[in-house]
Amino acid sequence: MNIGLFGGQFDPFHNGHESIIRGALKSGIIDAVIVIPSARNPFKTGSQVSAAPYRFYMTKNAVEQDFEGENVFVSDVEFMYSGTSYTVTTIKQITKPSYIRTFLGSCGIKQKQAHQNHKYYWLTGSDVLPKFDQWYESEKILEQAGLLVASRPGDGVDVDEQIARLRKLFGPSADIKSFRTEQVAAASSDIRAGHDLSEVPESVKEFIATHALYSDEDPLMSVSQKTAEDYYENAIKLYRYLGPKRLLHTLNVGILSARYALRYDTSLCDRALIAGQLHDCAKELDESLQKEMAYRYSGELFTEKKLLHSPAGALFAQEEFGITDPDILDAITYHTTGRGNMSLLEKIVYLADKLEPSRTYADLEKERQTAFTDLDEALRMVAASMKRKFESRGQEMHPLSLDFMSDLGL
Ligand SMILES: [Fe+2]
Ligand SMILES: [Fe+2]
Repeated sequence: MNIGLFGGQFDPFHNGHESIIRGALKSGIIDAVIVIPSARNPFKTGSQVSAAPYRFYMTKNAVEQDFEGENVFVSDVEFMYSGTSYTVTTIKQITKPSYIRTFLGSCGIKQKQAHQNHKYYWLTGSDVLPKFDQWYESEKILEQAGLLVASRPGDGVDVDEQIARLRKLFGPSADIKSFRTEQVAAASSDIRAGHDLSEVPESVKEFIATHALYSDEDPLMSVSQKTAEDYYENAIKLYRYLGPKRLLHTLNVGILSARYALRYDTSLCDRALIAGQLHDCAKELDESLQKEMAYRYSGELFTEKKLLHSPAGALFAQEEFGITDPDILDAITYHTTGRGNMSLLEKIVYLADKLEPSRTYADLEKERQTAFTDLDEALRMVAASMKRKFESRGQEMHPLSLDFMSDLGL
């Protein structure tokens, strides 16, 4: 097969991307497109991007919905190796026979076809042509793949002239082809900044709403560079341990915790982001492992199945994510039960866990609003409904939760 590889940040994935994919398939030059959301962007843009799993799942949802039955797939290959995601590295990884055969097989491509020797094209907009020779190891890119360039009306690039220039530079064997596609007025940065969602697919609109992406107050702008980098790395690592729903939940808790910190104590912003992001990191580990870890971390304090992931999570945050800050570890440990005398950070993570935007277990509008005006009152509202739930089921609360309730006057 001839396969187009379409890499990008996709923050968000929009109609311009879809138009490039459609045009590329229509050109007849390629038979399939693999969309590859970037994990680690080599270029610092000065603005923060959404963590990689958000961009990956948003893109995957859109592709599955809008290209159903067509040969368009989304790959997580950039999550699988460490270090900066340069194009040359991504092409090298994705074109490995062991990877591509399994990947295409998992996408429903028949074995005979998946095992062919494929030809690859890096799919891109024409705007990159004038700078392509400055890309990291551009010569090696062209040894591994051709370039397939989307030429859009009014894009201001003389595609033929640029292709001739690059052929002169890289030799006549450089396989650079172009195709015409329609111009779609969509730029990710404008969509993020302006909240104009007219050029994003329906599923992306839903995804942005569900996870409250691109909110005006982006806490990632308020944390240190080091914390932001840790946050992005942790998000990529969490992808290995959590399914999509829980992974996006735990990332949402990180962002919401940081937003609460910005409201109540900005000095907690960095710790709130990381504690929230990691609070459920151990929840999908094997139960026996959770049990063993919980015991190792806190002895007999937590033995109930539902509670194991909290102390196990603190230990996992320590051992797998390198967290040493005791306040972060406590916020993870007590996020399910609460406890007496909770620190502000613990309260923040506890509340964010219950109120993050993708939570739909009840109408939480009032609690969500109150959380930004009176944190303790919001805690009381959330804890009271928790208490009612226990009472209606005739269940006993953990002694730590009883201390927590009594602190709140419940
Ligand atoms: Fe949890
Ligand atoms: Fe949670």
